Amino acid sequence: MAQPSQTANPADALDRKRAYLTPNVTTYYQEPIVMDHGDGCYLYDAQGKRYLDFFGGILTVSVGHAHPQVNQAVADQLQRLTHVSTLYLTEPMLALAERLAKITPGRLQKSFFTSSGTEANETAIAMARTATGSYEVLALRHSYSGRSALAMTLTGQSAWRMGMHGVPGVVQVMNAYCYRCPFGRTPDTCGLECAKDVEETIRTATSGRVAGVIAEPIQGVGGFITPPDAYLQELARIVRKYGGLFISDEVQTGFGRTGKRFGIEHAGVEPDVMTFAKGLANGVPIGATIATPEVADHYDAPTIATFGGNPVSARAALATLDVMEQQQLTENARVQGVFLREGLEELQKRYRILGDVRGRGLMQGLEFVRSDKQPAPDLVGEFLERTKAEGLLIGKGGLYGNTVRIAPPLTVTRSQVQDALDAMERALRAMYQAQPELNHVS
Ligand SMILES: Cc1ncc(COP(=O)(O)O)c(C=O)c1O
Repeated sequence: MAQPSQTANPADALDRKRAYLTPNVTTYYQEPIVMDHGDGCYLYDAQGKRYLDFFGGILTVSVGHAHPQVNQAVADQLQRLTHVSTLYLTEPMLALAERLAKITPGRLQKSFFTSSGTEANETAIAMARTATGSYEVLALRHSYSGRSALAMTLTGQSAWRMGMHGVPGVVQVMNAYCYRCPFGRTPDTCGLECAKDVEETIRTATSGRVAGVIAEPIQGVGGFITPPDAYLQELARIVRKYGGLFISDEVQTGFGRTGKRFGIEHAGVEPDVMTFAKGLANGVPIGATIATPEVADHYDAPTIATFGGNPVSARAALATLDVMEQQQLTENARVQGVFLREGLEELQKRYRILGDVRGRGLMQGLEFVRSDKQPAPDLVGEFLERTKAEGLLIGKGGLYGNTVRIAPPLTVTRSQVQDALDAMERALRAMYQAQPELNHVS
């Protein structure tokens, strides 16, 4: 949809950013893009250049930009009622809570609403502590939980901790990063040493009773690290043995992204608590924490999230869930995800700098390496510049900054996936032409 640009002078955007935003508001690309508007899987910059969006505002624009059904729901609600706080009940908040109880696995039933994934995770930890009476929480290496002091401490990547020394009561345990197994195992020699180490850590580094573990079924910011199902099953079993709860952080993996409704469903683990944000309301700010009645009913001391359960966010979420169901987008994520994955594996055969292809559904990662799996963040930087020139937007991540993250809106079509694969192929070919030594990566 063509629209006149909102940005009077895109050329001076970087100067204004430097003058008025703190320096940690980082942007992709040597020349940041000033984005103007979006439509479905496409974004348009302030000069009118079109991009195929395969990162969806960090896995958040789940049903495509400017979706008419979601936008109409938001517009209707704005006309009716924008905000009252949870001191009063509203139909959208109640309807969303009821809907989440219906679609989440197992016995998850009672929700607490907030405005972000960080707050959703804070809430989950508070629930686990109040329900179990234990304090210590396990978090996984390479995880990302958000930006509050607690969430940064849970986060298992130093770069995202802003030099914080951390809050007490959090113990990091081994994740299953099979491509770089710290135990030197390969899939055929794996004895789930990482999960066994969790039990050893509980015995040696905690009081022996834990409130729970928080785990992303696929680690998002960590670079789409995809643990074997058996790891998550074992993790849940061990934590429960020591009195703890299993918290599934579905902020990135929730609502169809991985080809099942929730990421944890691949492993068949029924969590005690789940957290959501990002894709739930297609970009309208929302966070939610849902728990089983036994857990949730302990969460009864006074606390309030002013914007939690906001009727505009709740209507946006309900409309987003409607679109997902009407268009069977979980199934689309599965089908297009298989096609995307096959294309990426084909690229991997030809371009050896693609050391690992991993993920599920429309959440696929590419780890860039040089010989001996040496992380190559510089190659990711170059790949991003070249795919941008091709009109394709993708993300990056990982502890070493060497993983490309590919996660289009769930409405993506086969021909759009093919366009993205073609753009990535052209970018790789140009990189190999510019640096012939890449041909020798083994
Ligand atoms: C898995 C996960 N949990 C929590 C968060 C924090 O969410 P927010 O940025 O909305 O606070 C993020 C954000 O990227 C995330 O990826």
